[in-house]
Amino acid sequence: MRDAVNNPFQPGSDVVPEVWAGRTEQLSDWRDVLRPRLDAGLIERGRTILGEPGLGKSSLVRRIAEEAELEGAWVTPQIRLALGTDPIKRLAAEVLKLADRAGLSAGQEQRLGQLLGRVKSVAVSGVSLALRESAGQEPHTALTDLLVEIGRAAIIRKRVVLIHLDEVQNITDENALSQVLIALGDAITREVEVEAPGLGPITRSLPIAVYLTGLPEFNDASGARKGATFTRRFATKVLTPLDDDDLRSALNEFVMEGWEVTDDNGGTSVIRMEPAAVEAIIDVCRGEPFLFQLAGERAWYAGTGDVITRAEAVEGWQRAEAEATSHVERILERLPQREREFVMAMAELPPEERTLSRIAAEAGFAKNTDAGPASQRLDRVRGIINRGRPYTFRHRAIEAFLTSDWPHVS
Ligand SMILES: Nc1ncnc2c1ncn2[C@@H]1O[C@H](COP(=O)(O)OP(=O)(O)OP(=O)(O)O)[C@@H](O)[C@H]1O
Ligand SMILES: [Mg+2]
Repeated sequence: MRDAVNNPFQPGSDVVPEVWAGRTEQLSDWRDVLRPRLDAGLIERGRTILGEPGLGKSSLVRRIAEEAELEGAWVTPQIRLALGTDPIKRLAAEVLKLADRAGLSAGQEQRLGQLLGRVKSVAVSGVSLALRESAGQEPHTALTDLLVEIGRAAIIRKRVVLIHLDEVQNITDENALSQVLIALGDAITREVEVEAPGLGPITRSLPIAVYLTGLPEFNDASGARKGATFTRRFATKVLTPLDDDDLRSALNEFVMEGWEVTDDNGGTSVIRMEPAAVEAIIDVCRGEPFLFQLAGERAWYAGTGDVITRAEAVEGWQRAEAEATSHVERILERLPQREREFVMAMAELPPEERTLSRIAAEAGFAKNTDAGPASQRLDRVRGIINRGRPYTFRHRAIEAFLTSDWPHVS
């Protein structure tokens, strides 16, 4: 029996969904590059993962963090930065918890006690501390010093540390942003001396992984605000929608083995999905992770039988159409006017006529060059379009919404 309790699809933010699709590039970046390099004492940049709402930035890093945690890493929770919160305070509080985990809080040396005291006062006063204290005592130095101690403890215990700051676009205060990025960046790049058996002292980097996630607007913070070294310390990736093949593989489990659920009498049964239902879900969600979960959830609810049929997938989606519409509208409404006009004009043209000059004319820009910045940002910063010949949409739900009667299906 399919019901609300055993529905494995989870639209809604900040969860690692049970039905996971794709993102293999980022998962393997963690498994095959970042983690092994940190284990080996090699320096590796932090990762900044940006993208439009609902593309799965938070889920992706939570999944990586869960995996890391299972392997013994010391991970922070998702440090979600609401607009107007002091990020330095939040970070300090989480770094103190890491210190606890690393066994640094239990008394010991005086030097460590003083350092913990400094970070505790940062956790209370936050970035404003910088205004009161003399140079060299700025909050970020205390944070970095403690991170270095945590990193040293991690080396001894053969652990990796993972720090996840989410919604980084909300750090609008210049001073706070540079304090955060310098604190983390200095810890990533710090080299420490350790004893290598048979070799004596060698220098190595700290096993600290930093993930920053948020909306593409984070990229607008100027180099000056982020600190000149930001790009050398963090590698940035803009997420794009999921591939249909990845979605197909994710749902294949329902087709081949079936999805095991517990039923009312405590027994288990298996829920399957018709291949045609799989295709219907893939077709309606257009690679959007959020819409994928929504379509799956509704298909599950559209019936109670052991097989999810195509008719149920379609019927379920029809009830989700309003939500799908507002998802895409929200993304469009967030765009600055020029970018929105550009996208709308692009959609008006037949696909083969989507060149910069035709779109610029259609959007009513006086000159081609006026459309340049908007089109560049839509491509490089947001990942919504591709400036090829002709221009194409990468955000397939926006394209479908503007050029067809999607999300409506009959
Ligand atoms: N790889 C994935 N496979 C399947 N579903 C996913 C995947 N990644 C995310 N989702 C689902 O997509 C939805 C949105 O994910 P998430 O909250 O991580 O997006 P986000 O990019 O952080 O959005 P926001 O910008 O609003 O914070 C969630 O319902 C999540 O379960
Ligand atoms: Mg998020």
